[in-house]
Amino acid sequence: MSAIVAEQLAKVFRIPQKDPGVVGALKALVRPRHADKVAVDGISFSIEPGEVVGYIGVNGAGKSTTIKMLTGILEPTAGTVRVLGRDPHRDRVANARNIGVVFGQRTQMWWDLALLESLNLIAKIYEVPPARYRDLLDRFAETLELSELLKVPVRSMSLGQKMRAELAATLIHEPAIVYLDEPTIGLDLLVKERIREFIKQQNRERGTTVLLTTHDLGDIEELCRRVIIIDGGRLIYDGPITTIKARFGRYRTITFDTGGPIPVELDLPHGAEVSGREERKLVLRFDRGLASASQVAARLMAQVEVADFSISEPDLAGIVKQIYAGGLAEQPEEVALC
Ligand SMILES: Nc1ncnc2c1ncn2[C@@H]1O[C@H](COP(=O)(O)OP(=O)(O)O)[C@@H](O)[C@H]1O
Ligand SMILES: [Mg+2]
Repeated sequence: MSAIVAEQLAKVFRIPQKDPGVVGALKALVRPRHADKVAVDGISFSIEPGEVVGYIGVNGAGKSTTIKMLTGILEPTAGTVRVLGRDPHRDRVANARNIGVVFGQRTQMWWDLALLESLNLIAKIYEVPPARYRDLLDRFAETLELSELLKVPVRSMSLGQKMRAELAATLIHEPAIVYLDEPTIGLDLLVKERIREFIKQQNRERGTTVLLTTHDLGDIEELCRRVIIIDGGRLIYDGPITTIKARFGRYRTITFDTGGPIPVELDLPHGAEVSGREERKLVLRFDRGLASASQVAARLMAQVEVADFSISEPDLAGIVKQIYAGGLAEQPEEVALC
């Protein structure tokens, strides 16, 4: 059985409209008006147990709304969701045992309680066997570096500490599925690394299914083999991260450190262009379909004294930008688009 199945999932928010002032308020009483906001517009996908899937899209694309429907917080306007065979909205209590949710920058823990007391309570609520609980607590404390924090109330933790605590609280009942909505937002690199390591460990050791929303494409590259990209509430890509990198990573850049000045006019192969220039540094961008790195480098070396150069791999951030910008239409036909 799939872990998560969404079919033609949609959410329309109905927003009451009112003209300003008393007259507006009275009018709204007599004849209420609404504006419909389509946040999620017929999305279908299925996720197998043990997958770690990146769910990405620009701000307002509909990511959080989707996650809220998958967790049962929101009821879909249309379409269906099944999480381990259950309807998460109708079967909220049973569903809660199987899932864990983290919304970045919002805590579900008791603000005034020490972390350990919060964890004890959660373990009781979910009836985690005491021996299992002690074992998990030890392991979480180690991977998430929580030992020093167990006695500290959540209220007085830093953002990074809170997020590590939050992950422990979310996973202490060992849910089969975890939804992480921007878990690393605002965190420094070291904390991000810890969190990524923890997610990887949970997935590797327990086969936890993870659906991850993040603005940090580093999270995605490190954790996910599959990504789902949405835009304007619609699904625009669902597939391996390697496919988008290979197919959409059309452009590469070569950075040259030059030993001498760079002429204003340069003769470059077809498909190559200057994308940055300093006194002794030149960045060239080229289309892999039209030129090769060695062609570009050889042509430049004939005109400029080159001390060193490096080629950068296509980066996911640039690719995703291209996809959002409608770059899909230019791609070869065999690319499976949704
Ligand atoms: N409760 C709500 N009422 C009205 N509009 C909403 C509500 N929640 C989200 N939206 C709108 O739905 C769209 C998708 O929002 P959201 O799912 O939060 O996007 P994302 O998480 O991808 O940034 C946005 O335009 C947002 O303003
Ligand atoms: Mg969001």
